Amino acid sequence: MEPAATQNPNPENVGLVRRAVEQDAAALAEALVQAWRAAYAGIIDAAFLKSMDVQQIAGRWAISLGRDTGEKPLVAVLDGEVVGFCQFGVPRDASAQGTGELYALNLLPACWGRGLGTLLLLETTAALRRLGYATAYLWVAEGNRRAMDLYGRHGWHDTGTTKEDARFTPALLERRYAIELA
Ligand SMILES: CC(C)(COP(=O)(O)OP(=O)(O)OC[C@H]1O[C@@H](n2cnc3c(N)ncnc32)[C@H](O)[C@@H]1OP(=O)(O)O)[C@@H](O)C(=O)NCCC(=O)NCCS
Repeated sequence: MEPAATQNPNPENVGLVRRAVEQDAAALAEALVQAWRAAYAGIIDAAFLKSMDVQQIAGRWAISLGRDTGEKPLVAVLDGEVVGFCQFGVPRDASAQGTGELYALNLLPACWGRGLGTLLLLETTAALRRLGYATAYLWVAEGNRRAMDLYGRHGWHDTGTTKEDARFTPALLERRYAIELA
């Protein structure tokens, strides 16, 4: 049994973390698009970033959050508004069975640097541990220094494994990070 919501230990922030519900779909889409456009400028093709469609992404989130199955993302709430999320669960890599995966961590840029990324990350590793995983991994884009630093400060390490994501032009180089949860 997990707590319904976790208060940010930093008293200057009023953030909390809870599970996403279907009504959060639009906020998750907005956070994703804004975070990507800010973090991946100069890393991912500008035309792709510009073409990201908040409404279309919100529609996909609404379907996914409305399902009874699957691990629901954690959302960060600040002053009553959902400002970001972390999505995680079973591994997408067939070779990583038995390992948890952090799929995505995105916050509205206006909320960066206030401890909310840390809060989401720590709650996610706790949730992965509760799911019974002893290890977890994630993929982070080469050049995404802010995210790499955040992961490095909280027990994740660069495994040295890389892959190229050919959905992007040019292909996006990603580094695999991992953490021991046990
Ligand atoms: C990566 C990301 C989630 C980090 O979120 P964040 O809220 O900025 O993270 P935090 O605030 O917890 O930590 C980042 C910085 O804030 C500082 N910080 C942490 N807690 C703080 C607090 N309570 N008050 C003030 N500053 C704080 C940290 O020291 C760190 O500073 P630095 O990077 O300048 O050294 C966010 O930048 C993001 O959405 N990026 C775009 C998407 C992305 O790259 N996702 C990862 C994909 S793998």
